[in-house]
Amino acid sequence: MKGIILAGGAGSRLYPLTQVASKQLQPVYDKPMVYYPLTVLIASGIREFCLISTPQDLPRFEQLLGDGSQWGISIEYRKQPDPGGIAQALIIAESFIGADPVTLILGDNLFFGGDAFPRAIAGFKSGAVIFAYHVNDPERYGVIEFDAKGNAVSLEEKPEQPRSNYAVPGVYLYDNDVVAIARGLQPSQRGELEITDVNKEYLRRGTLQVQRLSRGTAWLDAGTSSSLHEASAYVQTIEKRQGMKLGCPEEAALYRGFLTLDQFEALVSGMPACEYRDYLAELAAEVKRVGLKSA
Ligand code: G1P
Repeated sequence: MKGIILAGGAGSRLYPLTQVASKQLQPVYDKPMVYYPLTVLIASGIREFCLISTPQDLPRFEQLLGDGSQWGISIEYRKQPDPGGIAQALIIAESFIGADPVTLILGDNLFFGGDAFPRAIAGFKSGAVIFAYHVNDPERYGVIEFDAKGNAVSLEEKPEQPRSNYAVPGVYLYDNDVVAIARGLQPSQRGELEITDVNKEYLRRGTLQVQRLSRGTAWLDAGTSSSLHEASAYVQTIEKRQGMKLGCPEEAALYRGFLTLDQFEALVSGMPACEYRDYLAELAAEVKRVGLKSA
């Protein structure tokens, strides 16, 4: 399974922050936003990544994440010259995807808790797997309608009158048919290739699986100044209480066995003195004392 992180868009709702750094590079408490979706996929066992962003922002992501080898993964970079829609990412990444299945995650989607993604990725066979999450404001998202038996019956992008409170979060698992499906799409009224249209095609074919995320999973949005602040506050609250950080790629890579403890310690010793380094150094000491906890 390959992984695509889409970190495009103008981020205009975060103006003026986004005048100098893209939305997905903004801090969510103590790390750049893109660390969180990247960590979700590393913790799910994905090792090969393609990050897609605008031509202006791409060099900043490369500076931040490098080629991924420091975390035992690989990261390629591709440009999305114009905001052509989420589904366009699947066409841009065609040569990266090759003959494999792929998980696409949006660089501004923050998830905490639960093991739905590692399970779905480990068990993925064919078709598409998307998720459904109960929200208060479904009209802002792709919305999924279920029948009385719990089967998905319709999907709509940002409907004025949503048929349910179930929004589709930005994590999508697809088999290799997805490239051809994305290539066959027509742009929507807003001129974009819509990911909801990809999912509708899988629904039409009868190969779309929808998994409801339990209420124990937190899915946060960080697209406006107030929601960005709330996401930071959430991360700070949990980290302070548990003494464990969220969204650390180093930690996920260690738990997944992508890094040995020696490699992990070498990586940590190269970091400047800061809370992040202290945390990881303490983690290495704890692993030596009591072994690996589950991720
Ligand atoms: C996009 C998708 C939408 C999905 C959402 C998740 O919305 O089009 O279906 O529910 O991401 O974050 P957008 O980022 O365009 O508002």
